[in-house]
Amino acid sequence: MEAVCRKATSGDVEALYALIEGYARKGIMLPRSRETLNRQIDTFVVAEVENRIVGCGSLCKLGGELVEIRSLGISEGYKGLGIGSRLVDKLVDEAKEQGIPKVMALTYEVAFFRKNGFEVVDKEIFPEKVWTDCVNCAKQHCCDEIAVLKMLN
Ligand SMILES: CC(C)(COP(=O)(O)OP(=O)(O)OC[C@H]1O[C@@H](n2cnc3c(N)ncnc32)[C@H](O)[C@@H]1OP(=O)(O)O)[C@@H](O)C(=O)NCCC(=O)NCCS
Repeated sequence: MEAVCRKATSGDVEALYALIEGYARKGIMLPRSRETLNRQIDTFVVAEVENRIVGCGSLCKLGGELVEIRSLGISEGYKGLGIGSRLVDKLVDEAKEQGIPKVMALTYEVAFFRKNGFEVVDKEIFPEKVWTDCVNCAKQHCCDEIAVLKMLN
């Protein structure tokens, strides 16, 4: 099965919405409205198999030194095939191109991120994070996600 990983375009919004909404309902991702997806489409990458979107991820700037991988998800039936790792590689390359030295994520999938060269760090080292997505998260006062970080230099 050949997956193509590429930057997202506005034509992908509906598929992205459905993929993210499925994980948001399970409480493992924050929901993204169609409006937000349209506005932030340049920050997304997608994986496509036979013209079907089967994975996505996005990069959110948290200041000049740090970006966060968000909305990373692979459709059921396409996990464990290396597609998530390829999307992470693409997002990391994007961060490098932007000259940003640190890539982080908040996740339950520590083993996956470790395999992709990230290390577990204390959440408290990321104060900027609190002022963006977390304020909209139902779990903001009882966050059980784990912070992972990859240094690019
Ligand atoms: C986490 C996720 C993105 C991984 O994508 P994927 O395409 O299935 O992962 P890959 O096939 O690239 O896996 C890369 C490696 O990580 C390992 N891995 C992936 N998920 C794992 C898990 N849950 N537990 C342990 N190892 C895992 C794989 O075994 C593989 O190891 P290998 O190289 O030794 O074979 C995907 O499972 C997913 O969409 N999960 C639900 C949404 C989610 O939690 N996203 C993270 C939000 S930050």
